[in-house]
Amino acid sequence: MSLSDVIARLPPGSPEALLARQIDGDRLPAHVAIIMDGNGRWAAQRHLPRVEGHRSGITSVREAVETSARLGIPVLTLYAFSIENWKRPRTEVSALMALLRRYLRSELHMLMEHGIRFRVVGRKDALSPEIQKELSDAERATAAHTGMQFNIALNYGGRAEIVDAVRAIVASGVSADKVTEKTVQSHLYIPEMPDPDLVIRTSGEARLSNFLLWEVAYSELLLSDVLFPDFRRDHLFDAVRQYQRRDRRFGAV
Ligand code: FPP
Repeated sequence: MSLSDVIARLPPGSPEALLARQIDGDRLPAHVAIIMDGNGRWAAQRHLPRVEGHRSGITSVREAVETSARLGIPVLTLYAFSIENWKRPRTEVSALMALLRRYLRSELHMLMEHGIRFRVVGRKDALSPEIQKELSDAERATAAHTGMQFNIALNYGGRAEIVDAVRAIVASGVSADKVTEKTVQSHLYIPEMPDPDLVIRTSGEARLSNFLLWEVAYSELLLSDVLFPDFRRDHLFDAVRQYQRRDRRFGAV
């Protein structure tokens, strides 16, 4: 699939098609990362339990994954559960884990169909053995796929990732004066992953919340007022279109 195929499938003249037409297919971000925020507020606005916001967020996840894969975005990372999220009520944590398992089971065929490679970033070993197995099975089943790489950040913390990299470097016995940025990069959870070009945060909040701290050094940040359960493909098209209008200088003039 490519941008032109995506446009061909949209209703001609629709707002979505108009947005998609403004995207330059040759300058897509190599990596889009999304901080999925606002599920709780979405539920509160409807007098529903918070978990219903997460449940509705699954539709947005599905749409973000399929649309990114169809557009030809090489890597998509979704921030599903931070190390800090363990502080939430136990019932909400269990509901999130259950949703994740259900999502993996119901979407594996879609990942296979689109040739999507699934990866987890985060401290996987602190998750329950059942979840770990399910995640590893999905990673194994999609390991040879050459389409989009879809990462879920789970039990993830940007500082924890840097700490884990430092621990691995120390354990490898390399002397301090030999440690460079490349050394740190090569000990991250997915060393070969390109840095996010575009980080989207939904729900109007303007924080990084410990997300990919090493990797976002030069990412473009796009803050959307939309609550995550309302995030649809037109919002993604609009984010990519806005990203392509940014002037990126990477510290130069
Ligand atoms: C933040 O909204 C959202 C989360 C902590 C979880 C996101 C999880 C999902 C969308 C569902 C499961 C994900 C996958 C990939 C299957 P919030 O609860 O902090 O919202 P609030 O700020 O409005 O309270």
